[in-house]
Parts: sequence; structure tokens; C-alpha cells
Amino acid sequence: MLFASALVIGGSAIAADDIEQKAQICATCHGADGVPINNTTPVIWGQDEGYLYLQLRDFQKGTRKSPLMEPIVADLEKQDMYDLAAYFTNKKWPNLGQPSAPSDVAAKAESAAKSIGCRGCHLDHFQGDGTTARLAGQWQEYLLSQMLAFRDGSRGNNPGMSDLMKATPKEDLEPLSKYLAGLQVDQYIGRGGR
Ligand code: HEC
Ligand code: HEC
Repeated sequence: MLFASALVIGGSAIAADDIEQKAQICATCHGADGVPINNTTPVIWGQDEGYLYLQLRDFQKGTRKSPLMEPIVADLEKQDMYDLAAYFTNKKWPNLGQPSAPSDVAAKAESAAKSIGCRGCHLDHFQGDGTTARLAGQWQEYLLSQMLAFRDGSRGNNPGMSDLMKATPKEDLEPLSKYLAGLQVDQYIGRGGR
């Protein structure tokens, strides 16, 4: 009996080590402390779990393109993607130290956000939930690039977001990105009181 339970304990330790090891590869770009190496590599620490999983899946399926991410996900099993999503969602979202948007920029962003209803999905503090991305405190350059990519169809994994970005005047995207990047939001806000 003792022998059998030792084996079980050994087995789960190996599974946890395996994810730690897979996650080390991610750290080379997404950062060993959660701060990515550059402003076109998104924060994944503390990002919403369902969203993380869907992006890994979509990079593997090829509906979301990235020459950097595609080789990383090529050999992952579905369970690895679930495990990586669970691993990263439980880490603390880093403070990238981006400035709050000046009031004229914030006002422009607020009015664009109201007319499209961004908060209806990304929630009040842009913290996201489930399969809807957190936007608050993400890199400004990355946010802008993704909004443009949804808009011109080069990011094609969510047709709903593409339609919304086409409905948003192009000149509103930069103010939106600056506003969202400058928001400092606790990662657990609105997440079931965790
Ligand atoms: C060689 C650098 C590199 C490595 C290694 C890497 N990533 Fe990425 N990752 C990127 C870049 C760059 C993007 C942004 C792609 C784009 O512009 O669409 C990205 C995007 C993502 C996204 C989408 C985030 C969002 O907000 O939409 C997820 C999730 C992700 N990576 C997870 C991982 C995981 C998990 C690993 C390790 C298994 C990993 N990445 C390893 C560079 C990397
Ligand atoms: C109908 C719901 C809905 C509305 C309204 C909406 N979004 Fe989204 N948004 C989503 C979902 C779902 C995703 C994740 C798409 C995916 O799986 O790739 C997303 C993704 C994004 C991303 C990519 C995040 C990342 O890490 O790559 C950005 C940026 C974004 N939305 C900005 C906005 C802005 C700005 C508005 C308002 C102008 C808005 N969204 C309105 C549902 C919505």
C-alpha cells in the first residue's frame, strides 16, 4: 500500500514539473517575472483563463497567425494548453508602469468605448472574464496592433471583434489603446471574489 501511494505522489509531481518546464520556454519572451521582453509581446500573467486557452488553440489551428507563437504551440496537446492557461492565469498581472492617458485622450477613448459598448463584454474595469480578454494595463503598442489586425482581418480568429473594430473609426483606436494601457486594475476584481 505504502509503495502504491508513493507512486501516485511521484506521478503528480512529474506532471507539475512538466508544466513548469513548458512554462520556462514562455518566459523567454513573456518574461520570467511576467513583464514581456518588448511591447509587442503581450502580458499573459493574470490574463483570463479561457481566453489564454483559446489563443493557444487558435495559434495551433492557424486562425490566429504569429511566426513566433506557431512553432511554440505546434506540439502541444489540448491538456497542455489547459494546464498552461491555468498556470498563467493564477500569476499576478505585472505593472508595466505605463502612464494614465491625458484627459483629452481619455475623453475620446471613453466616448468611443461607450458608442461601441466595449464594457458590455470586457467589463467595467476592462478586466475581462473567461474567454474575453483583459485589456487593462496591457502594452499600448500591442493593443493598438491587435485592434488594427482585427480591423483589417489579419487577426481572423474572432469575427465579432473584427466587425466591432470595423465599426470603430480608425482615429479612435490610438486613444483607446493609450487609455486601456494606462489603467491600473487589480486582477481579481469581479472574478468571483477570489
Ligand atoms: C519567441 C517568443 C515567444 C515565446 C517563446 C512564447 N511567446 Fe507567446 N507570444 C509571443 C508574441 C510576439 C505574441 C503576440 C503575437 C501577435 O502579435 O499576435 C504572443 C502571444 C501569446 C498569447 C496571446 C495573448 C493575447 O493577449 O492575445 C498567448 C496566450 C501566449 N503567447 C502564450 C504563450 C505561452 C503559453 C508560451 C509558452 C508555451 C509562449 N506564449 C511562448 C511571443 C512568444
Ligand atoms: C461582443 C463582445 C465584445 C465587445 C463589445 C468588444 N469586445 Fe474586444 N474582445 C471580445 C472577445 C471575446 C475577445 C477575444 C477574442 C479572441 O478570442 O481572440 C476580444 C479581444 C479584444 C482585444 C485583443 C486582446 C488581446 O490580448 O489580444 C482587444 C484589444 C479588444 N478586444 C478591444 C476592444 C475594444 C477597444 C472594444 C470597444 C471599442 C471591444 N473590444 C469591444 C469581445 C468584445
